[in-house]
Amino acid sequence: MNIDGKAWRSIWVEKGGRSVGVIDQTKLPHSFETISIRSCNDAVRSIRQMVVRGAPLIGVTGAYGLMLALQKESSDSALKMAFDQLIETRPTAINLRWALKRVLDRVKPLPPSERSIAARQEADLIAEEDVAMCQSIGNHGLELLKVLAERRPKACQRKPLNLLTHCNAGWLATVDWGTALSPIYKANRSGLDVHVWVDETRPRNQGASLTAFELEREGIPHTLIVDNAGGHLMQHGDVDAVIVGSDRVTRRGDVCNKIGTYLKALAAQDNGVPFYVAMPYSTIDWSISDGLDEVPIERRSGLEVTQVYGLISQASREPLISSVQISPTSCESFNPAFDITPAKLVTSFITERGVTPATEEGLKRLYK
Ligand code: MRU
Repeated sequence: MNIDGKAWRSIWVEKGGRSVGVIDQTKLPHSFETISIRSCNDAVRSIRQMVVRGAPLIGVTGAYGLMLALQKESSDSALKMAFDQLIETRPTAINLRWALKRVLDRVKPLPPSERSIAARQEADLIAEEDVAMCQSIGNHGLELLKVLAERRPKACQRKPLNLLTHCNAGWLATVDWGTALSPIYKANRSGLDVHVWVDETRPRNQGASLTAFELEREGIPHTLIVDNAGGHLMQHGDVDAVIVGSDRVTRRGDVCNKIGTYLKALAAQDNGVPFYVAMPYSTIDWSISDGLDEVPIERRSGLEVTQVYGLISQASREPLISSVQISPTSCESFNPAFDITPAKLVTSFITERGVTPATEEGLKRLYK
């Protein structure tokens, strides 16, 4: 996507594959900085500290992390150690396991001397596939949005199509385009009048810092709201559809996504607002069915709850970004990072293969 007239992806290969460049998402939107990942340990740190985040991007970063590990040492034991280190960084998004497994399966049968080159090829392939899948999600989502816009009562036709999204499922969460935001980008570029309600998405505020940044750069009208405002807007007819991404979808269609997604789905159902989940096939975990019982939910530091992180001052050339305390310092806190939206609350999935009901049959029909 474009930033100040330059086309960017969220991750790229540098120095003939000796390092991988990424955008430091912890600094956005206040400062646009890139960093180089030069080793497997760098990749581990970048995923853990959320320099890179978003299910598909974590997967691609993991794949390149394995490549970097194999450049240093390509024995079976080094491969296993790097795989284990990377997979432990973030437990919920299945895309990480999926991408690491793909690289592992590709390189394991090879002699060690051929492994790092093969890992590079596989990681490149995963990255390119991600872009193609997200583009395709955008195209299928666009058709859906056009229908939604046309079906609105005549009196509403002159208003923009109001979409609500949670967290960041845009190009920064993938390699390019995004999942939930891809149909919105396509809609805007095709001339459909859209407006996006952006949930701030406490505690880390990926909506406020990343989704708002992306939409602003793309020139898409949007309004930032506190996480608790969505239900109120739906009750007043101000939301035509909710579109979110996902970190893991079970085979029966339960959706794990950023904490707070479930409440949006409940409010959407109560108000007859369609609730769409946009995701590529790398997000489906065919090995599990019941999301509530079987998806590991990442628990993050309580400091993300008791503090907020943001711009303190822009007085000097270097923006000062820091955390401030918002609770009594001794306050107990609890910070589950994701929740489960049962399939019954999901209107449809928007995938790279088309739109399908959130059921096991619906998913299987697409992915035979
Ligand atoms: O904790 P994060 O920022 O990695 O969480 C990201 C999300 O929950 C996204 O909505 C999800 O990964 C889908 S992204 C295409």
